[in-house]
Amino acid sequence: MEKVNVGIIGCGRIAQDQARSAVQLKNTKVVAVCDTNETAAGAFAQKFGIPKVYTDYERMLENQQIHAIYNCTPNFLHAEVAIAAANAKKHVLTQKPFANTLEDAYKICDAAKKNNIILQAAFFERFRGYCAGIKNCIDRGNIGKVLMIKAQMSHEGIGKFYHPRTEWFGDCKLAGGGCLADMGAHHLDLMRWFAGSEADMIDAQIGFSEDWQTETNAIVNLTFKNGVMAQGHWSFSTIAPEGVCYDKFEIYGDKGTIFVTCDSKEEPSIRLVHKGDIQWQEYAYEEVDGFYGMEEHFANCILKGKVPFTTGEDGVVSVKTILAAYESARTGQRQRL
Ligand SMILES: NC(=O)c1ccc[n+]([C@@H]2O[C@H](COP(=O)([O-])OP(=O)(O)OC[C@H]3O[C@@H](n4cnc5c(N)ncnc54)[C@H](O)[C@@H]3O)[C@@H](O)[C@H]2O)c1
Repeated sequence: MEKVNVGIIGCGRIAQDQARSAVQLKNTKVVAVCDTNETAAGAFAQKFGIPKVYTDYERMLENQQIHAIYNCTPNFLHAEVAIAAANAKKHVLTQKPFANTLEDAYKICDAAKKNNIILQAAFFERFRGYCAGIKNCIDRGNIGKVLMIKAQMSHEGIGKFYHPRTEWFGDCKLAGGGCLADMGAHHLDLMRWFAGSEADMIDAQIGFSEDWQTETNAIVNLTFKNGVMAQGHWSFSTIAPEGVCYDKFEIYGDKGTIFVTCDSKEEPSIRLVHKGDIQWQEYAYEEVDGFYGMEEHFANCILKGKVPFTTGEDGVVSVKTILAAYESARTGQRQRL
């Protein structure tokens, strides 16, 4: 096999980003799409030149030409679709949050193991050039021992430009949560990666606004087993220029500091200062589109039989952490992970 034949399930917002990258990859061919909305699936297939269209993912999984699927369905379907795909012996790249419950998260991993397929959690941020650059900067000892990490992600208005038509997104039961589950899923994974350790304790506060069922603001504090302290702020209610999603990181070590502010329109600078420096310097990194990197890696793992960089187990840790944060917000108590 030289190329991995992929079927995309769910043709909404994120599938556009995934397909845009997939059609550029040398090791991947998108051969089919599926959406319960036939018009959406047809338009999507036409836009990206994809030959086969389904409206029932179980029918699509019967297609023997398909080696792997991108699971781009709403959160409440992640487990159902991932498990069905694994049972049909398709490799699975599945969107975040990995699952809405811990039980579902474990079931996805079990199905992958039982069927001996590659399961990759779609933490695309880890593949973004600047996130990999931050990790590289830390690992090269530029800031010494990491002491504290601050992360922020925010944008304006779930009902405005960002999710103009997605009903499940604002429904607690279907989405599993608001900005904590949605944005926190990315940053909790990144903070764990940057800290190089597992979270030990967590506490969280969540806030509601905009007449929305799920939380639109969240602040989470974590302590990692190696002593690193971290704080994440995630918000759907930040006033920001139209279409902008901020990402911010401040990483403090005993020998230096990293600052990064990304407004989602341009690749950001990684600003670095060492103890004793009189000004910031720029830390160079290779620009990589996160979706491109993630999907290229997924196909390589399938072709070469390698374990993915972001596994189902990373997905399980992420779900555990998100649920512990919600429990802390509900009870007002710190939670041990
Ligand atoms: N990585 C990121 O940065 C990022 C960004 C946005 C969304 N996401 C994730 O991607 C997933 C999808 O989000 P979205 O914004 O694209 O949602 P969306 O609502 O725009 O798209 C979901 C699509 O799935 C289709 N669908 C629903 N049930 C289906 C079924 N049974 N079979 C096939 N298709 C079905 C819907 O018709 C819709 O077209 C979510 O889990 C979300 O958290 C990730």
